[in-house]
Amino acid sequence: MGTIIETNDLRAYYITQAYGVERTVKAVDGITLRIKEGEVYGIAGESGCGKSTLLRILLGAYEPPLTVVGGEVKYHLDGDILDAADLTDEQQRDLKWRTISYIPQGSMHVLNPVRRIRDTFHDFISAHRDATKSESFQLTADYLRDLGLPEKVLASYPHQLSGGMRQRVTIALATILWPKLIFADEPTTALDVVVQRGVIQMLKDVQQKEGSTLVLITHDIGVHANLADRIGILYAGKLVEESDTKTILENPRHPYTRFLIESLPSLDSREERLAIPGRPPALDRPPSGCRFHERCPLAKDICQTVEPDLIEIEPKHFTACHVVEEELSSVAV
Ligand SMILES: Nc1ncnc2c1ncn2[C@@H]1O[C@H](COP(=O)(O)OP(=O)(O)O)[C@@H](O)[C@H]1O
Ligand code: SF4
Ligand SMILES: [Mg+2]
Repeated sequence: MGTIIETNDLRAYYITQAYGVERTVKAVDGITLRIKEGEVYGIAGESGCGKSTLLRILLGAYEPPLTVVGGEVKYHLDGDILDAADLTDEQQRDLKWRTISYIPQGSMHVLNPVRRIRDTFHDFISAHRDATKSESFQLTADYLRDLGLPEKVLASYPHQLSGGMRQRVTIALATILWPKLIFADEPTTALDVVVQRGVIQMLKDVQQKEGSTLVLITHDIGVHANLADRIGILYAGKLVEESDTKTILENPRHPYTRFLIESLPSLDSREERLAIPGRPPALDRPPSGCRFHERCPLAKDICQTVEPDLIEIEPKHFTACHVVEEELSSVAV
């Protein structure tokens, strides 16, 4: 599988001025990723770790105060490699929705409240290709049927649908033109567990039907376990671990990933989740050294001063942690 989107040492900060004082929030701070064509790549991490910011940069949908201060984003599309920083307006328009689609966080509220669902679909479809109303309606009806959504939603207004149905309609809207790359930000958050399952299945169906690439963001590792092929763990603006889903779930090595996995409720018990002590740091003054050191049970002196590199600890399994690195080198001696 080839790469479809990559970042190299990407840095994106929120730079604001208030009363003459500059404040810089280092929300994405040196992230290198390769997302492969046709995969589901999950991005996990607690709230405030930079997931949505990273997604906005990958999409090219951002404006000041968010600024790319270093590194690059490249799309590999139809044999061309396009640098996101060099796109013309036309290329950007073309990329948006036709090639790339976005299911934003809280997207249940993006449907126009005063338009019937079928009219919202027509507005969207006709903005991207020539289509009469009846062609759009037919395309929409066929697509919704394919995805197992009831046809009667077409004549409804958003407020007449349940939250779960609105979310599914939004996903259908974002994917009806079969984009190659789909970005979804917390698509199941705020839904109850049963409804979540339906939404997860729908995302699976959409992705598998066309072999699209899905970049899925959620703090909920349980959702990643169901959907993702690979998972990248973000902590305080940095990628701290990455591997295939099975490895992340069964053999996590970074102490932060271990916390995330251990805090998962097991399927057959109602035990309390093990909460991670503390909270992610504010990113205007991120901790020195390893950004996790203030919360890490394994932290050593070096962790406070030296930032660990992301290294490949076994084939295709990357971790940024001094202790893991030391263990490896002592095994190798
Ligand atoms: N508009 C903004 N201005 C300043 N800081 C922001 C802004 N939006 C988000 N942030 C900060 O950027 C960091 C990452 O936020 P975000 O990408 O939303 O994280 P996540 O999606 O993982 O919850 C947080 O510390 C957040 O407070
Ligand atoms: S580098 Fe140190 S502080 Fe960071 S995760 Fe590893 S042991 Fe913990
Ligand atoms: Mg977010």
